[in-house]
Amino acid sequence: MKLEKLLSKGKYNEVYKSGDLAVKVFNEDYKKEDVFTEALIAASVEPLDLNTPKIVEVSQVDGKWAIAMECVEGKTLSQLMEENPNDIDKYVDMMVDIQIDMFSKKCPSLRKLKEKMTDKINSASIDDTKRYELLSRLESTPKHDKLCHGDFTPQNIIIDDKGQAHIIDWNHATVGNASADVARSYLWLSLYNDKIADLYMNKFCEKTNTDKSYVQKWLPIVAAARLTKNIAEEKELIDKWIDVVEFQ
Ligand SMILES: Nc1ncnc2c1ncn2[C@@H]1O[C@H](COP(=O)(O)OP(=O)(O)OP(=O)(O)O)[C@@H](O)[C@H]1O
Ligand SMILES: [Mg+2]
Repeated sequence: MKLEKLLSKGKYNEVYKSGDLAVKVFNEDYKKEDVFTEALIAASVEPLDLNTPKIVEVSQVDGKWAIAMECVEGKTLSQLMEENPNDIDKYVDMMVDIQIDMFSKKCPSLRKLKEKMTDKINSASIDDTKRYELLSRLESTPKHDKLCHGDFTPQNIIIDDKGQAHIIDWNHATVGNASADVARSYLWLSLYNDKIADLYMNKFCEKTNTDKSYVQKWLPIVAAARLTKNIAEEKELIDKWIDVVEFQ
């Protein structure tokens, strides 16, 4: 496979264009099992009519595991937000509408969100009292089976030349409570821009008639789960969100 142009360089992978394909090439030390799991999840959501790029193959490129999928020509919602700050309202609206549509889909073969969050909280570096509080809170949440993306951010939405949205990066998808997915998106947005985060939360709650407190309840849980990523610059803000647990 000939890699033509670097589209993106992340901590764990590089994404290249190769003809009609986008090839996600993982770092050498990335677990083979995790590459196949990501391809499996992406393949599982393919039939759901969500405009996700089809997986074409999993192979090795220069000794590294790679997932080849259809390449979406366009810009990420994150690029568009940066290029057109006056249209933020429209883009946040789009983001919310796409996510609400996603929540209407079913994909029972995916891992349960509660189970995944439990594992993450168990491995987060927090004190045991907090861990216990967060696990009890998680346990008490209602059982839902909505398709959750797990990293639903403007960087993982590509808008093609016709204005059609495509959702990518399904690595963290699970089935569970939509409010958890919204809390995760809110947290990501707040690390980037508080105002956009609040706009997003307000729009989601308005459009779905959801009480904001349902989403806020998940914030400490998704914050603790995010902590396992060990991103130094985020630590202070994440710790703040985890501590919200003590005030509620
Ligand atoms: N199918 C695709 N078509 C076009 N561009 C893509 C495609 N897949 C990925 N990209 C580009 O590469 C970037 C990174 O891809 P992706 O989101 O899958 O990886 P990541 O965020 O680094 O992954 P992870 O969160 O799993 O570590 C995207 O934001 C997008 O710009
Ligand atoms: Mg991504």
